Amino acid sequence: MASLTVRQIDDKLKTLLRLRAAKSGRSMEDEIRTILRAAAEETGNAALDLIEPPNPPVHPPSSVTQKPAAAAESPKILLIITGGIAAYKSLDLIRRLRERGASVRVVMTKAAQEFVTPLAAAALADGGVFTELFDRHSEFDVGHIRLAREADIVVVAPCTADFLARVAHGLADDLASSIMLAASCPVLLAPAMNPHMWRHPATQRNIARVSADNVHLVGPNTGEMAERGEAGTGRMAEPNEIAQAAISILKPARTAAASIPQALSNKSVLITAGPTHEPIDPVRYIANRSSGKQGYAIARAAADAGAEVTLVSGPVNLPEPPGVKIIRVESAREMLAAVEKALPADVAIFAAAVADWRVAHAGTQKIKKGAAAMPPLELTENPDILSTIAHRTEGRPKLVIGFAAETENVIANAKSKLARKGCDWILANDVSTETGVMGGDRNTIHLVTAQGVTDWPEQSKEDVAQMLITAVAKEIA
Ligand code: C5P
Repeated sequence: MASLTVRQIDDKLKTLLRLRAAKSGRSMEDEIRTILRAAAEETGNAALDLIEPPNPPVHPPSSVTQKPAAAAESPKILLIITGGIAAYKSLDLIRRLRERGASVRVVMTKAAQEFVTPLAAAALADGGVFTELFDRHSEFDVGHIRLAREADIVVVAPCTADFLARVAHGLADDLASSIMLAASCPVLLAPAMNPHMWRHPATQRNIARVSADNVHLVGPNTGEMAERGEAGTGRMAEPNEIAQAAISILKPARTAAASIPQALSNKSVLITAGPTHEPIDPVRYIANRSSGKQGYAIARAAADAGAEVTLVSGPVNLPEPPGVKIIRVESAREMLAAVEKALPADVAIFAAAVADWRVAHAGTQKIKKGAAAMPPLELTENPDILSTIAHRTEGRPKLVIGFAAETENVIANAKSKLARKGCDWILANDVSTETGVMGGDRNTIHLVTAQGVTDWPEQSKEDVAQMLITAVAKEIA
């Protein structure tokens, strides 16, 4: 029976049904289906055989526009949301995963439902939302073993300290933890907790345990916490970072999947990222506020597009993008040497905030605080890595891209930089303090090329990376 219309339901009954549906996190239609199924089962007759197989317990409200369901071979992601303040970001994560062609089923712990409702998650997920271990309807339909078995990857975001401990110890007393024990597919955790909890030896022991069990981790990131005045390591990785990490983990097994574009396969991409540290003496250095987030996001996006990626990174506090060769350096001169060694490459993207100057005569011993006047710091110019590579006559990458971090006259400065440095594209951005770009998660780019200027919308650094890699793939196709 495809459908059943029930007429003459009065307003009071409708309101009661609506309340009941909201309480159980189901759509009205699903709630009615659940009531009918329970009634049919109670009569003990065969009515259950006559009605349609039950759907997952929570479905998107019909008014919400959905993308078409992902193709049969699209990655199946089971997202477990546990109870942390970062749970609100998991709704965005569902969208980011679906944007990448994934089909998403959601499991929410009891605590997670204190932060976001199953109905909100159901409006975005295309595979249903599951909350109970012993729900006879969902167990009848899918059940925890099937939920675990049918996923290509289980992503836990946010993963609280408590849930991490459960995973580390193999507890299985609710739907989410039972799935963790039943899953044989890759598992990715995005820890999110207060910095003190993250640093606690117990948490670090649990992290070591799950890592030994081949569980993947993304984040936590460093920055401000939801609690006022709290900062440190413990912020959940951004939804785009988590989505990228999940897709990257799946990639080796799914390279043939049409849903993951491989626009840069057989291409090599060299990327610089982060700040440089220029020594004053063995313990002091000159640095800048670059976090490396933009360069790392570009490295991830390029690797996801199938490129062979070398990332020459200054000192940063970021997780290593999977599938990327990382060369860690400190100073501008080390960065140049590493870049030259990593060539040839088809594309070079210079996102590092390289110090323009270094101390001319860095001390080999710690400079002592003496009675005499303060030691003068004589500066000398660092090599310009972008300009050096862009002006190469031999072995110049086909496409050389630089960034222009400006605090005024953004476009004019970027245009003159494009000419002076001899690169093909400049991504100009305003890094005045009020923009929050330096160290932040969002960026507004103006792409400056010989053909003109294109303004990109304000977006996350991951989205900037995606847009850039898409443009690069088009250019060198
Ligand atoms: O610092 P500036 O605005 O000149 O940086 C513009 C571009 O040049 C950036 O892409 C940066 O990575 C690159 N650069 C470099 N080596 C330097 C200075 C800047 O590669 N010494």
